[in-house]
Amino acid sequence: MGLYLVTGGAGFIGSHIVEELVQRGESVRVLDNLSSGRRENLASVQDKVDLRECDIRDLEAIRPVLEGVDYVIHLAALSSVARSIEDPVSTTLVNLNGTLHVLLAARDVQAKRVVMAATAAAYGDNPSLPRVETQMPQPLSPYALTKLAGEYYGQIFHRIFGLEVVALRYFNIFGPRQNPQSPYTGVLSKFIVAYLRGQTPTIFGDGEQSRDFTFVTNVVDATLRACLAPAAPGKVINVGTGRGSTLNQTIAFLNQILGVQVTPQYAPPRVGDVRHSTADISLARTTLSYEPRVSLEDGLRRTVAWLRTALS
Ligand code: UD1
Repeated sequence: MGLYLVTGGAGFIGSHIVEELVQRGESVRVLDNLSSGRRENLASVQDKVDLRECDIRDLEAIRPVLEGVDYVIHLAALSSVARSIEDPVSTTLVNLNGTLHVLLAARDVQAKRVVMAATAAAYGDNPSLPRVETQMPQPLSPYALTKLAGEYYGQIFHRIFGLEVVALRYFNIFGPRQNPQSPYTGVLSKFIVAYLRGQTPTIFGDGEQSRDFTFVTNVVDATLRACLAPAAPGKVINVGTGRGSTLNQTIAFLNQILGVQVTPQYAPPRVGDVRHSTADISLARTTLSYEPRVSLEDGLRRTVAWLRTALS
């Protein structure tokens, strides 16, 4: 028990975490500037959540929001690789400066723990697969760099100030509420929207790049475990499923699920992209007792069902 603060709590992943915390009877505060987050994402829990519209780029503005908080789940970020290439300054101000502000404010209110969203993108094109946390990072985009630097800041706060910080390297997360309208949204959301609108999905490159597509409820589970697991502080931990799929395979799954035979169109590869990404989740298993429960196929079915309603 305690007071949880979820930064980015009105966003895709954040709103699922907030719902689960409310379900468990926890007290929850949300810090969100509603740039990509939306009030509607919290509709099911709106009376039970204290939503503070606030921006992590402003340290003095966020200090009062952290008053009395025990656990900070820090998700607020600009989360797109492509966007970070177009506008590295905004990505840096939000992801790096913003993370530093959250850490400073958490330290000053003596929060019990900060669990922060880091990224699989930190591994870049390191040739060894699956990704193990001990591998040398190799950020290939401003996005990956800002997230990796945020991780390092977390570890420094842990060492110097004794703040309990856990960084979770999320792999490609998908599911309901991943914004179907945004050009920067995840690839599976884009694919499904194209299917449902009768458009042709576009693959950047040959479609043989792989990702460890992770359904959002798996990530909620890992994140909440990281708030309490005794051995987690100071660690960087992968959160994925341990299984990689190529984009061509995801198209085949969607054809099956939707009972159609769509052939994607292929476009030139996206700059700054990683080729392959699959998580080794041994550390999450041992440290967090985490086990992914929803498979890619089930997750795709649930996402299709949600998008059908959301787009109608
Ligand atoms: C994603 C996340 C990022 C996270 C990282 C962790 C999103 C938007 N980004 O980055 O926050 O930290 O995983 O692994 O969820 N693609 C297409 N067609 C499209 C869109 C994308 O072929 O219409 C391709 C991309 O070129 C890329 C792959 O799909 O090869 C995945 O792209 P994307 O969903 O944007 O995610 P990542 O860049 O892997």
